[in-house]
Amino acid sequence: MGKEIKKAILPAGGLGTRFLPATKASPKEMLPIVDKPMIQYAVEEARACGIEEFIIITGKYKRAIEDHFDSAFELEESLKKTGKKRLLEEISRLNHINFAYIRQKAAIGLGHAIHCAKPFVKDEPFAVLLSDDIIDPDTLLLHEMINLYNEFNSPILALQQVPVSDINRYGVIEGKKERESVYRIKSLVEKPKAADAPSDMAIIGRYILTPDIFEILEGIGPGKNAEIQLTDALQGLLKKRPIYGYLFKGKRYDAGDKVGYLKATIDLSLKNPQVSEQLKIYLIELAEKIKNNEL
Ligand code: UTP
Repeated sequence: MGKEIKKAILPAGGLGTRFLPATKASPKEMLPIVDKPMIQYAVEEARACGIEEFIIITGKYKRAIEDHFDSAFELEESLKKTGKKRLLEEISRLNHINFAYIRQKAAIGLGHAIHCAKPFVKDEPFAVLLSDDIIDPDTLLLHEMINLYNEFNSPILALQQVPVSDINRYGVIEGKKERESVYRIKSLVEKPKAADAPSDMAIIGRYILTPDIFEILEGIGPGKNAEIQLTDALQGLLKKRPIYGYLFKGKRYDAGDKVGYLKATIDLSLKNPQVSEQLKIYLIELAEKIKNNEL
């Protein structure tokens, strides 16, 4: 068995252009879904899998992320005085967690963002969570991936089948099925045209990686969209060691995209007892109007 996965990198250095103008001066990762910023969902998902240290890759206009995970003395005192115990518990729940922040000086790709974390990761395997990929909190994706890492002692990528029309937005794999939901990866390509895609299995925003990826990242140049692509580095790593994919069949929302974000907001609101009953009534009324072409 390899070393335990105790660290996670959360890249948040991207420009978030699909959400402009909202992301002009504030981080996409701080957009709320119901009442929590997207990035907090990723942190809580990783905590539930035993991750102890978080390395957040930030950039220009991303300072709100650091403030969000810092303790908030004045606010906590005020909530204490006014007896708002539940809110106090809610905002201080993550106070004890270790966060490190590294600023990516230019948003030149996910591969580059991950390489920025090298001094903090050192020689340990680590998880990567892209916080704009929201995973249904009732599923065990990251947990399953850590189990697979412990079994194969190899990098593990989360995969999901996507429609042909969307394939050019993802890194796509060619793989050999090992057993139900587990694939040994044969090759990877970033954002292929639908006609060139080796399969319909796309890499989604959860990875378990090993520190040998850093050396490969150092040696690669810009790829698709002139960015340093993690997919290209993984293709390089494949020459040195096996990489496996775990096909996730649960719900995932691409919340970096407007429609994905709205779907995540609705579905997670329906799971939230504070708002679900009122929202259901509204949605039923709305569906009726849509059916009758009144909207
Ligand atoms: P995206 O592909 O969603 O890019 O990045 P983006 O810049 O955030 O958003 P769009 O496409 O312009 O709307 C996936 C993840 O990788 C991070 C992003 O912050 C996001 O979490 N990322 C991307 C970086 O940290 N640095 C980069 O240079 C690029």
